[in-house]
Amino acid sequence: MDKLLIEGGRPLAGQVRVSGAKNAALPILCAALLTAEPLVLSNVARLNDVRTMQKLLAQMGVALDVTTPGTLTLHAAKIDWPLAPYELVKTMRASILALGPLVARCGEARVSLPGGCAIGLRPVDQHVKGLQAMGVEIDLENGYISARTARLGGARIVFDMVTVTGTENLMMAATLADGTTTLENAACEPEVVDLARCLVAMGARITGAGTTRIVIEGVDRLHGTTHAIMPDRIETGTFLAAVAATGGDVTLTGTQADTLDAVLDKLREAGATLDVRGDAIRVRRDGPLQAVHIRTAPYSGFPTDMQAQIMALMTKANGTSVITETIFENRMMHVQELQRLSADIEVEGNTAIVRGVAKLTGASVMATDLRASACLVIAGLIAEGETVIDRIYHLDRGYERIDDKLAALGARIRRVS
Ligand code: EPU
Repeated sequence: MDKLLIEGGRPLAGQVRVSGAKNAALPILCAALLTAEPLVLSNVARLNDVRTMQKLLAQMGVALDVTTPGTLTLHAAKIDWPLAPYELVKTMRASILALGPLVARCGEARVSLPGGCAIGLRPVDQHVKGLQAMGVEIDLENGYISARTARLGGARIVFDMVTVTGTENLMMAATLADGTTTLENAACEPEVVDLARCLVAMGARITGAGTTRIVIEGVDRLHGTTHAIMPDRIETGTFLAAVAATGGDVTLTGTQADTLDAVLDKLREAGATLDVRGDAIRVRRDGPLQAVHIRTAPYSGFPTDMQAQIMALMTKANGTSVITETIFENRMMHVQELQRLSADIEVEGNTAIVRGVAKLTGASVMATDLRASACLVIAGLIAEGETVIDRIYHLDRGYERIDDKLAALGARIRRVS
């Protein structure tokens, strides 16, 4: 199993290009199931989660072709197996995103329940409830969701809580339903907007994406299109937090600053200098780091996917930072590992109280999930001595060559098997 070795204490400097967003690519790959014509996607990051989704779609009968690196053509001329098996779903919960498109296109689907997940229970009841309201018969048996409908109909669906993939799944299903679907309390995340943009380019009639009320007027069929995946706002935030932590001067290119305002605000409050110019963000930090308080929230609040990385930054800030996680019930597993690096953190329920220390010291630590891994990388970059991060397959699920990108910015980081 690969590990990362990091020799901390070097500032980062230079330029790095942000990859396409994982959480936009995953639903958009599934959107290919909605049409018999080819969907051509560019700015697709080479990530393990994207590869898993490709595998899932391929075994359903979708033809996939990588024309140039980062450009992918998906052609679902015919769907042979509207099935997402446990073996693939268990490694990537986002496989549930195939459910809506499969039912809409084939009138039936069998998708494994995601099962246990490291960061919390993460049920899919909202996806199920929404499809039922659209006239889909759902049976839960043998760990699978079996869905069947003679006619998918529009409906008004009010989500009990904000769910990103729930919103995406139902929005995709509704594109081919009879009549109009209204999604209330919908997720406003930029990835939902990117998916809507792609669906509209495919001929869907969608208004309100990016607000809490999305209206979809069903059409008979969708056609192929080309679409560029939006930049990854969480990768962007991760690099910004890393530079804020180590100090230095880095320019991120190919990004979209207005998708991460809450993160930029907090980094500025913490002492980073950020200059936004077009699709670039320059980040510097020369002065001291200040503690800031964080409370995660659905977009446009502070993203849960940046909570762990900001915590790494706060371990060396002046003062005490209070970080509250409100989206997932078990997303503090990085705390134990940060403590191994000499961080002073106390957890009470879903709140971490982080008292800044003068220095972190390198140690062996274990990555427990994707964003926890990114947090440990940042901590390793500012710890004295060597930090060894085990189980980095989590990191490879969602960051494209993060070790190479950091090394190019001057970090002493290497991967060993
Ligand atoms: N929830 C339910 N029932 C549902 C759906 C969600 O109770 O039917 C709860 C969840 O348990 C959770 C909350 O609602 O407590 C929000 O979950 P959501 O459905 O929004 O999460 P998700 O769609 O499964 C996506 C991202 C996550 C990101 C969250 C929150 C993708 C593929 N995944 O997950 O990304 O943390 O939204 O923004 O888009 C990551 O990239 O590291 C990651 C975990």
